[in-house]
Amino acid sequence: MANFLPADDFDLVIFGGTGDLALRKLIPALYHRARDNQITTDSRIIAASRGDLDRDTYLDRVEEALRSHLREDDFRDDEWRALRERIHYAQCDAMAPDRWGALGDLLAGADDRVRVAYLATAPGLFGPIAAGLRKNGLVTGNSRIVLEKPLGRDYESAREINEQVGECFAEDRIYRIDHYLGKETVQNLLALRFGNSLFEPLWKRGTIDHVQITVAEDLGVGGRIEFYDRIGALRDMVQNHMLQLVCLIAMEPPSSLHHDAVRNEKIKVLQALHPITGDNVRTTTVRGQYKAGAIKGETVAGYLDELSGDGSTTETFVALKLQIDNWRWSNVPFYLRTGKRLNAKHSEIVVQFQDIPHSIFPKPQFNVQPNRLIIRLQPDEGVELSLMAKEPRPGGFDLRPVGLDLSFEETFGIRYPDAYERLLMEVLRGNPALFMRRDEVEAAWQWADSIIEGWASARQKVESYVAGSWGPSASSLLLDRDDRTWQPES
Ligand code: BG6
Repeated sequence: MANFLPADDFDLVIFGGTGDLALRKLIPALYHRARDNQITTDSRIIAASRGDLDRDTYLDRVEEALRSHLREDDFRDDEWRALRERIHYAQCDAMAPDRWGALGDLLAGADDRVRVAYLATAPGLFGPIAAGLRKNGLVTGNSRIVLEKPLGRDYESAREINEQVGECFAEDRIYRIDHYLGKETVQNLLALRFGNSLFEPLWKRGTIDHVQITVAEDLGVGGRIEFYDRIGALRDMVQNHMLQLVCLIAMEPPSSLHHDAVRNEKIKVLQALHPITGDNVRTTTVRGQYKAGAIKGETVAGYLDELSGDGSTTETFVALKLQIDNWRWSNVPFYLRTGKRLNAKHSEIVVQFQDIPHSIFPKPQFNVQPNRLIIRLQPDEGVELSLMAKEPRPGGFDLRPVGLDLSFEETFGIRYPDAYERLLMEVLRGNPALFMRRDEVEAAWQWADSIIEGWASARQKVESYVAGSWGPSASSLLLDRDDRTWQPES
């Protein structure tokens, strides 16, 4: 039975409180935590935004959002009535220091409780909001600030934001979100690697042949297209979510679960990433962009058709081969691919072990396949270990791969919490382990920037792929060249 402990009384101020993230993710996450009694009746959620709204109008919007984003049987009138008492609205303009009065009034006299400023806004506002909080005397000894992704668009802009926010908040008060770190399966990577003695001795070159990470989405870019077009898949997914997965797979065992013990190991991985530059970018990366196609029988438009304007070379797909320059991972490639409008929403990490050194099962009669540990993130979360087994029958001797398959939802029999539920609780409790430290973000940007510069200097073109496929054919070639294939095969 899960044991839910309430957080201390808090004031959570969501800047960008009328925005998509707040209404689609943050408030539904808080609804679930309130339902499990983790939010005390005295705690407050204060939405701050430029809009001239009264509280009731804002609450109507929240109710509408909850009804559309929660599962139907999760929305309960009595739970909503209890939560709405705790939700407030303050008009506040980040760029106008004289427009902070309403927020100041709400927070007056509450300096001793936990205060969290959650910046669900464009990154350009992070510095001004941090400064506004300080200038208006709203930063207390018990304050934390949460910065949503994207943290800048390159190393320079990320550094600048970090400087600006760092002038107002100490590093251990800054929580930089990568929502992948709040996913149950991602945390389960720690449990799998360091809570079992089985894998760690095998977790290295010599036994692991390679690692693949796929984060595939069947959705397109949708309403965010203008924003996305300035970003592309490398900045949107690889620099953050995928590199965080690489870190958790590749890091050395930390000495404890203390936030800095874990993050000290993660940064070493980022620092050991072999640079991809103009010299090797063509042989190690693939950029793609979807054209019209069909997904699950439905015709979908191409990226350029969705984008108004004169065309674009923004990538909606990236595949790359990454090497980690250290003893453990020398010559063990990590293949990463992510894209929009692919065949399915399907995210998994495949750790493929080496072939058996000597086979007593000759080919082609036997098809012995290497063992694989598959960590599934989406659509369902679980772990599968694929082993070779004999097919049960009285005559003959045939082998086939079978999976020792663990579906977390079935095993634990509970609804899987959204990543934001956990991340919000971790902030409220003051535990930064699941958030990125400044040095991690900056190291990840430096590595990603060099790829983007490499693409420009090598004039690497964007290959098109049909929506509903697994990406451009060059992505399969990237592995073909090493005599390997993507799982699932593309
Ligand atoms: C976000 C990206 O960070 O992650 C989106 O900006 C992407 O483009 C999303 O769709 C994917 O998150 P999840 O949890 O659905 O895998």
